Amino acid sequence: MTQNVDFSVGGVPVSGRAILSPMDGFSDQPFRSMARRLGSAMSYTEFVNAIDVVNGDPRLERRLRFLEEERPVVFQIFDDDPARLLEAALILRERDPDIIDVNMGCSAKTVAGRGAGAGLLREPAKIAKIFGMLTHALDIPVTGKIRLGWDDDSLTYLDVARAVEEHGGQLLAVHGRTKKQAYRGVANWEAIAEIKAALGIPVIGNGDVRLVEDIGRMREFTGCDGVMIARGAIGNPWIFAGLDRAEVSEEQVRETMLGHLEDMLAFYGEDQGLILFRKHTARYISPYRLSKTQREQLLTSETAGEFETLLRHLVAEPQAPI
Ligand SMILES: Cc1cc2nc3c(=O)[nH]c(=O)nc-3n(C[C@H](O)[C@H](O)[C@H](O)COP(=O)(O)O)c2cc1C
Repeated sequence: MTQNVDFSVGGVPVSGRAILSPMDGFSDQPFRSMARRLGSAMSYTEFVNAIDVVNGDPRLERRLRFLEEERPVVFQIFDDDPARLLEAALILRERDPDIIDVNMGCSAKTVAGRGAGAGLLREPAKIAKIFGMLTHALDIPVTGKIRLGWDDDSLTYLDVARAVEEHGGQLLAVHGRTKKQAYRGVANWEAIAEIKAALGIPVIGNGDVRLVEDIGRMREFTGCDGVMIARGAIGNPWIFAGLDRAEVSEEQVRETMLGHLEDMLAFYGEDQGLILFRKHTARYISPYRLSKTQREQLLTSETAGEFETLLRHLVAEPQAPI
C-alpha cells in the first residue's frame, strides 16, 4: 500500500502532519506506538543523555527500544559537548533509527544549567559545530528541536535555525517559548512562522496545540510542515486520529486505557507497568466527575485485574461516567 508523502526529512518520507512530541516519562514505546497507530506521523523517543549512551548505561535499553511499525523513528540525545554528542550518535546509529535529533530545548536546571538542551541556544556557534560534526559522520538525517532562546533578551532562534540548516540539519522542530518561560505564557507562533520563512528544510511547529482544530490553525498561521503535540496528547491520543476528547465515547476511552495498560504491563512488567500507568490514568479520567474515593481507588489499584474491575464498574455509576 502506498501512502501519501507529506514531507521528507533528508531521504526519509513522512506521511501525516501531526506528531507526538518527545516527552521524558511519557513517550515510551507503548505510548508512542499507540499514538502512531492512531495517526502520529513519526516516533520520537524520550531524550537520552549522551553521557549515559557513551557509558553504556543499561537503563537506556528500554528508552530506545522501538517497534518496526513506529518508523520513522527518531532518537533524541542531549549534551553540551560536541565530541561526546558525536560519539553517542555513532553508538545509537547501530540500533538503526531513521533519524537522530539533538535536543536544544530542555529547560530543566540539570540539563540547561550545564549548557545542554536549551543551554545550547546561547551558543549558536557551538550548535553549528555539533551539526557539522554529526551530519558529516552519520549516514542518516540529523535534526534539531529548539526553543526560541534563553530569555527575551536572548532570542537566538533565527541564528540557531540558520546554523542548523547551514550545517546539514534536515529538520527543525520549534517550541515557541524561551527557556526562561519554561511552560508559562503563550507559545509564540509568529516566531515559528519567521523560522519557517527563513529555512528551506521542513519545520515542525510546537506549543499549545490542544484541539484538533489547533493543528490546522498552527499550520495555517506558521506555514509549518508538521505540528508536534506534547501535553495535549497525554490522556488524549485520539487527537492524532482527528478526534477531540469530547468526541470520544466513554466506551472508547475505557477500551483504549485497558489496551494501553496491557502494553505497559508487557513492556515494563506487571508491577512497574501498573505504577507507571497511573500518570496516564490520571489524565485519561481527568474530564470525568469522579468521587475522591473512586479516583484514589483507580490510582492505587494493586493489580491490573483490580484496576480493570474498578474501571468497568464505573460504567454502572450514573454520576460517574467513564
Ligand atoms: C513531561 C514532559 C516531558 C518532556 N520531555 C521532553 C523531551 O524528552 N525532549 C524534548 O525535546 N522535549 C520534551 N518536552 C517538551 C515537549 O516536547 C514540548 O516541546 C512542549 O511540551 C511544548 O509542547 P505542548 O504545548 O504541546 O506541550 C517535554 C514536555 C513535557 C510536558
